[in-house]
Amino acid sequence: MELNKVIDLEALTASGFPEGLIEQASGFMELMMQYRCALMEVETKLNVLNAEFTMKNNRNPFESIKSRIKTPKSILEKLRRKGFEISVKGIEENLADVAGIRVICSFPDDIYATAKMLTDQDDIRVIQVKDYIINPKPNGYRSLHLILEVPIFLSNEKKNMKVEVQFRTIAMDFWASLEHKLKYKKNIENAEEISKELQRCAEASSQLDLRMQALRDRIEAERE
Ligand code: GTP
Ligand code: MG
Repeated sequence: MELNKVIDLEALTASGFPEGLIEQASGFMELMMQYRCALMEVETKLNVLNAEFTMKNNRNPFESIKSRIKTPKSILEKLRRKGFEISVKGIEENLADVAGIRVICSFPDDIYATAKMLTDQDDIRVIQVKDYIINPKPNGYRSLHLILEVPIFLSNEKKNMKVEVQFRTIAMDFWASLEHKLKYKKNIENAEEISKELQRCAEASSQLDLRMQALRDRIEAERE
């Protein structure tokens, strides 16, 4: 059964579908709806920052903003892999990346400037910061990962929801998507040499980011 499709609960009950399972499925769907609402809240905040930044600086800080809800299949896999309870409560309490947003910026300093504007907002609580730009992963992976808590206002409650926000430059995103594709190729020869080369590419791409940023500063200084 696909849990993210609309389920006709009455028809299911009439056909003898176990009631316990129906209840769990609707609890799951309700939680996914709440994560979608949390994504909308954070996306709106990012869109507002984008509009203001663009007006003040005459350029767009974000190349793109993509959001996604983790699929039921990968939620289940992650709960199993980490040994957490497979339940709605198990998801809420243990998974911080059910709702995810990836913000692609043009320049590294835009990442820090806009991430600070977001996390300084008084309804946002920062749960975790992982700065893989200052401290890249051994394979060369770079990005700024934030786990945030944002309130959503439902008909009769205010609920804090966790959202993972990943900030990257275009170059970091280019590297990460290639590395992601290569990671799933099994039994490749020269694996060690290839991962060394991937590290070198990450390094080169980070140098390019900094050179482009310095170039932007020079061009902007000349314009003034
Ligand atoms: P997860 O259990 O995967 O969430 O690990 P974690 O909690 O240690 O999270 P971490 O912040 O390290 O990474 C979470 C997400 O960042 C992943 O789901 C990927 O989207 C991305 N990511 C992290 N490391 C890599 C990497 O080496 N390569 C690529 N391509 N993406 C990565
Ligand atoms: Mg994670």
